[in-house]
Parts: sequence; C-alpha cells; structure tokens
Amino acid sequence: MATKNPIIKDAPNSVVRSIGVIGTGRALPQKVFKNDEFVNLGLDTSDEWIVERTGIKQRYIAKEECASDLAIAAANKAILNAKIDKSEIDCIVVATTSPDYPLFPSVGCLVQSGLGLTDIPAFDLSAACTGFIYAMEVATSMMRNGTYRKVLVIGVDTLSKYCDWKDRSVVILFGDGAGAVVLGGVEDGYGLLASQLGAKGKDWEKLVVPIGGAKEPLTAENISSPDRYIKMDGKAVYKFAVNIIVDVIEKALEKANLKKEDISFFIPHQANKRIIEYAREKLGLSTEQVYVNIDTYGNTSAASIAIAMDEAAEKGLLKNGDIIVTVGFGAGLTYGTNILKWYSSKK
Ligand code: COA
Repeated sequence: MATKNPIIKDAPNSVVRSIGVIGTGRALPQKVFKNDEFVNLGLDTSDEWIVERTGIKQRYIAKEECASDLAIAAANKAILNAKIDKSEIDCIVVATTSPDYPLFPSVGCLVQSGLGLTDIPAFDLSAACTGFIYAMEVATSMMRNGTYRKVLVIGVDTLSKYCDWKDRSVVILFGDGAGAVVLGGVEDGYGLLASQLGAKGKDWEKLVVPIGGAKEPLTAENISSPDRYIKMDGKAVYKFAVNIIVDVIEKALEKANLKKEDISFFIPHQANKRIIEYAREKLGLSTEQVYVNIDTYGNTSAASIAIAMDEAAEKGLLKNGDIIVTVGFGAGLTYGTNILKWYSSKK
C-alpha cells in the first residue's frame, strides 16, 4: 500500500482551509497522428500551414479508447503520484463534453467503477475546454467545509470522434487525452488561491455541434450531415480568446491580492500557439515561464491544462511556493482561470 501523504490533515469534519494539488497524472491514446497524415487522407492542407497557424505538429487519436479508459488511466497515475490509497478518494469530478455514452452514465461513474470504488459521489461537468478550470473551483468549494477531503478532478476529451474528418478548418486542431489531479489539504496559504469563471452564452453558436441532441435528434435523413460534427467560427473564437484571457487573469490576481509580476509559471489551455504567445506577451512573461505542448498533443479540450500541469510537475518546473496561473476558454463560450500557490512535498 502507498505511504500516506504527510501533508493531509485527516481529522474528521475539520475545516480544510488550503486545498491544493497533491498528485497529477495523464493518459494519451495509443495512436499518434501527424499533420502529413491529413494530406494522405486527401485533405487540402499541409504540415507547414498547420504548424504556422496553430503550432500543432501531431496529436493522439482515440481509436479503441473512450473517455473513461483515458480518465481511469490518468486517475490511477495521479493517485499513485499523490502517495495515497485510492480508498481515500471521496468524490470524483470529471470535466468532459465527449463522454462514452450520449446521456448516461457519466464518465465520473465509469471512473468510479473502473477504480474499484463505490458509493462516493461521481459526476461530469460540461464546460468544454474550460472544464478543468471549472471543475477545480467546484471541487475546491465542495472541500472547503470539510465534507470532502480528497477529490479526484479529471479533464478528459475525445473530440476527434466529433470532428468532421473532411473539414480541414476543425479536424486539424483537436487531439484526445486525459489529465487528472488529486486535490487534498495542504499547508496553510498554499493551494488554490483564487478562481474567476465566466461564460458568454449569447455566443454559443460560435462553437457548436448542431445536431444529434434533443433539439435536433439524429435521424435516417440527417445521419450523414456534417452538422453532426463540431462547427466553429475559428476567427470569432480566436478573437474571444485573446480578448478574455488577460482580463480574467487580472480579475483573479486581484482577488488573490497578487500582481502580474508575481506570476511564476503560466499554464494556458493549448488551443493555438499564437493565442498563447499573445497572452504571454500581455502578461509580461518570458518563454521559460509558459508551458507549451500544443505541438505534441493539439487541443485536447478539457484535458489540456491537466496534461500540461502533469508534464510541468514531472519536469520539476513547478516549485514549492510558485504562483501558477492556469487559464481556459472554449465552447459555451466559457472561460476561466485558477491561481495556485504550488505545494510540493519534495521541498
Ligand atoms: N489547411 C490549409 N488551409 C486552411 C486550413 C487548413 N487546415 N484551415 C483553413 N484554411 C484556409 C481557410 O479556408 C482560409 O482560406 P481562404 O483565405 O481561401 O478563405 C485560410 O486558410 C485562412 O483561414 P483563416 O480562418 O483566416 O485562418 P486563421 O489564421 O484564422 O486560422 C484557425 C484558423 C482555426 C487555426 C484559427 O482561427 C484559430 O485557431 N481559432 C481559434 C480556434 C480554437 O482555438 N478553437 C477551440 C477553442 S477551445
């Protein structure tokens, strides 16, 4: 059995004031898909165009895997990394918009079963690419009064299954994957310091899967329609992202009584390297202070920030006491940021 994490306060029902990441994990599908393979499939695109306009060189595509398979694998790694026994997990929150089944059960319940756990609450949260940011705030709020003490937060998506593989403007962007964290009590003053969440529902049409839901169910007539896949106004989403990112981070920094200069490390949603670069400049950060892995994974939607956090932690880029800013944006249109003071038990 894993040794217990020494930082967690286990007194029953005591209030845990500081809640932070005590373990991280990630999982990717088997299949790597390089830009050139789109050309081989007959799409009018090129590796040069994709790299230049997005920064993406390859992505992982779920062929056999579903969201729950990736989520369970990432969760197991995060639990191992947290050095806790999985029986200590008392709630599971999964951010996803591409679950195994169209309505139910939730991926959360499939993860609970896959981990061999029972009875603890498990549910999905739908905020598209901002899902992980929303889930961190929801989980932390559930933990603050002491009801839940170790919560598994997972971001997972398999949006390649919802792309029209004939639509070069969308399919080249997305990849599949999962990232997970275990949240637990940490030393006072560490952990999640502030979040700022938001949405512009009036712009929902900018990023939408038009048919296949209750509004317009799939029928024999529309089953081949491209409208059953992701439709995106790429330019509008781009503009939305660059307009919102810095604003939402500034609001959260103010809540946490911090300034831009206090940011140690920035983990943005990996949607487009040009958007990341714009945000980096506006925040006055060096390239070393920003995590970028879009070249390897593409846009993994709700998984992107969690995957990046796991990689950055693994590489030793997140140091004890560092101020880590994460930011996400996506369909809804949703946006949000979490500001964390990183707690590392390996101080
Ligand atoms: N390969 C080659 N050409 C492509 C292409 C591709 N994969 N996709 C689009 N094009 C073409 C367009 O058809 C257009 O041609 P035209 O000028 O003849 O009409 C041209 O490239 C320019 O298209 P445009 O849409 O202006 O490109 P862009 O620079 O805005 O880049 C995106 C397109 C999608 C990469 C960019 O808008 C973007 O990243 N937006 C944000 C999307 C996003 O992040 N979504 C997820 C949010 S979580």
